[in-house]
Amino acid sequence: MIVTTGQLSEVAYGGFAIGAYNINNAEQTMGLFQGCMDSQAPFIIQISKGARAYTDKRLLEAMIRAAAEIFPDAVFAVHLDHGDEETCYDCIDSGFFSSVMIDASHEEFEENIAITKRVVDRAHAVGISVEAELGVLGGVEEDVVGDNPCLTDPDEAVEFIDRSGCDSLAAAIGTSHGAYKFEGGQGIHFDILDDIKARKPGFPLVMHGSSSVPADEVARINAAGGKLVGAAGVDVKQYMPAAKRGVAKINIDTDGRLVWTRVHREHLTATPDEIDFRKPGKTFIAEYAKFIASRNELLGSAGQLEATRAHVTA
Ligand code: G3H
Ligand code: 13P
Ligand code: ZN
Repeated sequence: MIVTTGQLSEVAYGGFAIGAYNINNAEQTMGLFQGCMDSQAPFIIQISKGARAYTDKRLLEAMIRAAAEIFPDAVFAVHLDHGDEETCYDCIDSGFFSSVMIDASHEEFEENIAITKRVVDRAHAVGISVEAELGVLGGVEEDVVGDNPCLTDPDEAVEFIDRSGCDSLAAAIGTSHGAYKFEGGQGIHFDILDDIKARKPGFPLVMHGSSSVPADEVARINAAGGKLVGAAGVDVKQYMPAAKRGVAKINIDTDGRLVWTRVHREHLTATPDEIDFRKPGKTFIAEYAKFIASRNELLGSAGQLEATRAHVTA
């Protein structure tokens, strides 16, 4: 059942977080649905602009609709990840997406508000919710430098929420995208979340760049010929404290890429005479499902499927 991201946030807010996982292909789609059913968790499927270009947006939609039939008990939302204005409009008009993210965080404050507000007006007219971003994460957005210039200013966040009309906000609290986070310590700034939550109780926040980059996964990749040096991620013990502070959605993509890389590197190394790509594909689906279920446990969304269904169908 496809539900809205807003409905999922209502159930999760303050208690746990919904896992938001990126998909690009059939194997990720099947593993994601399987893992969420195994852990009885509601979830958010994230589709990036890159994914829409790689696996054609029509194919992605068809795969997700098919997966919803294969797993009829699944409860999930479909979300555009890091959209620009044009892509947001395309997703809003598609009649398929539950929510979009407009990422104008690289713009000046006023311009970010103006762009976000335009998207909010278009989205709300057809019942779609909008995630916006204020502040700059590292990784794909790391071109901003200086003395903590990337972190979200809570005063600005409150003004931004009020003036843009967005439904949730990705706050930059020290995480970054990709496999190389935190040089020299965790550095997650929960005080920013506390401050926003105190002034905007009930308003859902989003934590991007939340992959944990497991050391054993990195070690296995490197043992099979990889070269990930200095990779590090978010301590998984930080997920629940973030959820308690109003983070209702936690974004995880890189960790799935690590699972894919480990499975395929190990398979190709162990079976140099093999050419049936369905074999590592099958292993990946099972391993990704296991990974997703483990994350849902850590986010607190595991076991929340029936409560979520009851909430959205009430
Ligand atoms: O934050 C970005 C996500 O990890 C998606 O990455 O744009 O390469 O699909 P992508
Ligand atoms: P990671 O790179 O930590 O998985 O973050 C993903 C993300 O924030 C997608 O929007
Ligand atoms: Zn992100």
